[in-house]
Amino acid sequence: MAATTTPFVEFDRFTKSFDTGGSVVTAVNEMSFQLERGEFLAIVGPSGCGKSTLLMALAGLTQPTSGQVRVDGTPILAPYTDAGIVFQNAELLPWRTALQNVLLQAEVRKAPKAESEARARELLASVGLKGFEGRYPDELSGGMQQRVSLCRALLHDPDILVMDEPFGALDALTRDQIQIDLQRLWMERRKTVVFVTHSIDEAVFLADRVLVFSPRPARIAAEFRVPLARPRHLSARAGREFGDLVGEIRGVFETLGVLSEGER
Ligand SMILES: Nc1ncnc2c1ncn2[C@@H]1O[C@H](COP(=O)(O)OP(=O)(O)OP(=O)(O)O)[C@@H](O)[C@H]1O
Ligand SMILES: [Mg+2]
Repeated sequence: MAATTTPFVEFDRFTKSFDTGGSVVTAVNEMSFQLERGEFLAIVGPSGCGKSTLLMALAGLTQPTSGQVRVDGTPILAPYTDAGIVFQNAELLPWRTALQNVLLQAEVRKAPKAESEARARELLASVGLKGFEGRYPDELSGGMQQRVSLCRALLHDPDILVMDEPFGALDALTRDQIQIDLQRLWMERRKTVVFVTHSIDEAVFLADRVLVFSPRPARIAAEFRVPLARPRHLSARAGREFGDLVGEIRGVFETLGVLSEGER
């Protein structure tokens, strides 16, 4: 990848501690890393190591105890409305249809209605939900709900997409399909993505670069570039390059004592 100028997203000695009535828990300690504009970064790390905390800070939903998070050179000091966020659960409003849930973003931002609706319909169609616009969340499968949630996050064309284990609750086949959909959307729109997952395969399949976090307080234990060409096909997972990289990342977790022999 060509050397570029200023980084787009910067975590600069980011530290976050929580005071839990007497004892202080440091979730993340002095972590620094950067993303280029349009980069797809995946983060894998053990449960409780501080991944969500980091994403919350990027979205401006929590403030660092010390250090800074900057986007395009500006410190994030308040909720950053230009970020699109997708959580593990779709978090759809049950009384609104799929289309109305996607349009929530437009309403909050008071965006032009007709334009927003056209875009929402186009996004839903692009993830295979044409014909489901009028369905309510309880009429949609988990995978469909998560697609709606992805469309909602993309509706206002955010520069940054913050994804916290977005596909963790999905079955394997649905997860495969939604990974392909996300890759396609990303290739078309080139958002800067920070994607947290527990799945090493998912990280390698989707990302340009994978950061491996240690147990809490998180530090970057290793960093891998993913050299696989795009678009990546599911069959790439059977390839040697893919398998070697997954194996290397798993090896880091074994070294850290997060994975022990015999476990996945
Ligand atoms: N609001 C809070 N108050 C107190 N402690 C918190 C708070 N939020 C997070 N923590 C603590 O910070 C640590 C990191 O939590 P975080 O949710 O960031 O982990 P995570 O890496 O996202 O874990 P998981 O993979 O299970 O989602 C944990 O020890 C957690 O208990
Ligand atoms: Mg989390």
